[in-house]
Amino acid sequence: MKIAVIGCGNIVVKEHIPAIISLDIKIHALCDISQGNIDSAKKLLDYEVPTYTCYKQLIKKERPDTLVVALPHNLYYDVLIFCSDFPLKIIKEKPFALNLAEAKKFSDLSRGKNLKIFTVCQKRYTPAYELLKQEINDTGEKISHLTIRYTIPSENPNANWRSQFSTSGGGVWLDMGYHVIDIINYLFDGKEVTVNHARLLNSSEENYNVEDMAFVEMECAGVIIFAYISCVEIEKHEDITAYGKSKIFYTDKKGLTVKNKKQQLVKRIEAEDDSPFVRMYKDFLFDSGEAGFERNLSSSTSLMRILEKAVMNSKFNVAA
Ligand SMILES: NC(=O)c1ccc[n+]([C@@H]2O[C@H](COP(=O)([O-])OP(=O)(O)OC[C@H]3O[C@@H](n4cnc5c(N)ncnc54)[C@H](O)[C@@H]3O)[C@@H](O)[C@H]2O)c1
Repeated sequence: MKIAVIGCGNIVVKEHIPAIISLDIKIHALCDISQGNIDSAKKLLDYEVPTYTCYKQLIKKERPDTLVVALPHNLYYDVLIFCSDFPLKIIKEKPFALNLAEAKKFSDLSRGKNLKIFTVCQKRYTPAYELLKQEINDTGEKISHLTIRYTIPSENPNANWRSQFSTSGGGVWLDMGYHVIDIINYLFDGKEVTVNHARLLNSSEENYNVEDMAFVEMECAGVIIFAYISCVEIEKHEDITAYGKSKIFYTDKKGLTVKNKKQQLVKRIEAEDDSPFVRMYKDFLFDSGEAGFERNLSSSTSLMRILEKAVMNSKFNVAA
């Protein structure tokens, strides 16, 4: 495998490069328009690596077979079009696309002769979410309602390229909601999701023109799903509560708690401390093969459809 990285920003330095290193895979080249960001990425490696400020040069000169691409959302289109002339596996950061129309183009590219696109979706590999899915299946409990809360206390909400619809494609609903819908697809095995109600709110219109909060009610397999997403919360939360007939299931990333309706503890299981990024890389690089790419591609496309439905349904459509 000859892997190169395009875009050495926050998520690549924090998660992708450490995950690649932990799997003993060598990085063959790095690219970013910021020398400072290239330097931060280089510091993580204990070997020399060629660096580029132009991704086209990198691809032409180094001829990688696999690319990790993590960029501002509006740049993926040009990069993928250029890449489609080369035989490449692309591990691109979420979201799959800016919107459904672009998703269809990327999907066609990925089913063409050269490219295979895999969109990052590490949260479905969170061990605690696996515990939740397993426990609900094992108990056979009928779930009527599920709440997913994903909030961050950002010190610089919707900053830089995230601040403008033209460069981000949307606010927290696209950026963080992408993960939430992917978790729903995981928990419900990709069954159809409908959007009952959506509100995307921008509480700081003078600072950015995309939403910083989303309240969305969905439905899947007869279960009402409520998602609350925000980058302007006081506290970080990433948790799921599922309400069954006689039991309540709660999971954050640390583990799973099951209580009965009298609030008595039925079960507590601690989750393994495995990095979701490492588990994701292992799965699609070594285990799931061609079928994994195809599964990821159809899941990414259906996910974009759900995201777009909520944008259309939102009474306050900040993207208009
Ligand atoms: N999977 C996750 O949990 C997760 C978390 C955060 C971000 N992301 C995604 O990762 C991507 C990047 O987000 P980020 O937070 O790391 O942003 P970032 O702004 O920190 O990183 C983007 C990088 O792209 C570089 N860049 C810009 N134009 C370039 C060009 N033409 N050629 C090469 N490099 C260029 C910038 O200099 C910067 O280093 C986005 O798609 C975002 O949604 C995913």
